[in-house]
Amino acid sequence: MEHSLVLILDFGAQYTQLIARRVREQRVYCEIHPCTISLDKVRALKPRAIILSGGPASTLEADSPTTDPGIFELGVPVLGICYGMQLLCRLLGGKVEKAEHREYGPAVVEIERAVGVFDALALGGKTNVWMSHGDRVIALPPGFVAIGKSDGSPFAAAGHPERKIYGVQFHPEVAHTDRGTDMLASFLFDVADLKPDWTSRSFIDDTVERVRAQVGKGQVVCGLSGGVDSSVAAVLVSRAIGEQLTCIFVDNGVLRKDEASQVVQMVRHHLSLKLVHVDAGARFMKELAGITDPETKRKTIGRVFIEIFEEEAKKLGQVDFLVQGTLYPDVIESVSFKGGPSVVIKTHHNVGGLPDRMKMSLIEPLRELFKDEVREVGEELGIPKPMLWRQPFPGPGLAIRCLGEVTEEKLAIVREADAILLEEVRAAGLYESLWQSFCVILPVRTVGVMGDGRTYEYVVAVRAVHSRDAMTADWARLPYELLARVSTRIINEVRGCNRVVYDISSKPPATIEWE
Ligand code: XMP
Repeated sequence: MEHSLVLILDFGAQYTQLIARRVREQRVYCEIHPCTISLDKVRALKPRAIILSGGPASTLEADSPTTDPGIFELGVPVLGICYGMQLLCRLLGGKVEKAEHREYGPAVVEIERAVGVFDALALGGKTNVWMSHGDRVIALPPGFVAIGKSDGSPFAAAGHPERKIYGVQFHPEVAHTDRGTDMLASFLFDVADLKPDWTSRSFIDDTVERVRAQVGKGQVVCGLSGGVDSSVAAVLVSRAIGEQLTCIFVDNGVLRKDEASQVVQMVRHHLSLKLVHVDAGARFMKELAGITDPETKRKTIGRVFIEIFEEEAKKLGQVDFLVQGTLYPDVIESVSFKGGPSVVIKTHHNVGGLPDRMKMSLIEPLRELFKDEVREVGEELGIPKPMLWRQPFPGPGLAIRCLGEVTEEKLAIVREADAILLEEVRAAGLYESLWQSFCVILPVRTVGVMGDGRTYEYVVAVRAVHSRDAMTADWARLPYELLARVSTRIINEVRGCNRVVYDISSKPPATIEWE
């Protein structure tokens, strides 16, 4: 089934991805493209509606980002948000000026016309919105009418109902705009006449069909880590081609306590996937011996993983395709204007290099999805919730949580301590609200006292953070009672550790991991 597409043109706003997620929450498919996209390409995408994002620049400056005005002649409904509104007003003959005061924060919009984004909202009513702008529209383009005003903006919302072109000065995509979701829904369903047809079910059906057509009678491998993305990708592909898929799970010896057996149990017995389980702990440990530099650890683990993966894939005979759990945020082309890029691409790619070396074509069934959508699809596929709601775990695993050289002794300590922390965090009901919670072992020993004796043992650091996307993070204010329990248990139950400290640094300037 062909989905209707909403095209979001990115002018560099930090909120662009949020707009996309809000549209998807309405079960409408959308894609983000740079505002510099050509008109031909826009035409080829056949969008049913276009949204112009906000952006950090000012339309009054020379060289500020713009887009082909031909988009307004396509007969496709357009919604401009903040910078997007100012730009469309300028391009269509309106006037924008620098406001005396930057309007930032909450504002009240009085609704003057219940059309466009306000279709679902009562006429004459007032609604709380979130503003963040320096410029404002002072004269509308010909044919436009005001549909809402605020103290700071005579045209907080305006539009041309016949041409179905609307602009809002505020941000309907942020939670502080009370009826923002209703406004976007009005635009999508009432103005653009779209249907909510983008569901997990329809996504699964489409993907299964597409993968089947792509693969034909070919053979496919998938590197499974036990994480959300690779598990959902594998189950999805197996729905399409069943036994033609073989999953390879490489136990690198730096996984958490009982993790390997849990992954194998889950994948083989619960998800019924064909699985090759490689117990390569000893090989990784040998390669890691003597290495203390974090990046060298990462590179070594990445290299050995690829070697093992290649060896195992070779044993399977002719393999034509490789499944990767790439997500949408990794493939959005980023635009960078003076406010910085709206999308920063993560640098940690554990299996980078695999497809090139192995001459296999890629299958990336999750390329169009955001993380929350991956989880929804996973649920629809019957993957158990604990697997879908796991906190992120880095590819190099506990190796980058054993500061300095990775030794069996330090690994054993950090693995036990980590298991205790996770057990307590889960018991306190906090596991899912934390982005990550884990232990790190420091390469120093400190003096302690136990019974009558003096001890000289390792320090374990506890790290727990809140984050939305790992780009920034705030240390979690865990309850003291929980920290006390964790500390007592680790010191009493883990041999070789006599001190526990809590990391109270945020990112930036610290990072989430210690290495
Ligand atoms: P940092 O430490 O840079 O981490 O704040 C941000 C997020 O990335 C994870 N991380 C990694 N993930 N391979 C991975 O797959 C890596 O080498 C790696 N290093 C950090 C980290 O756990 C956090 O979620």
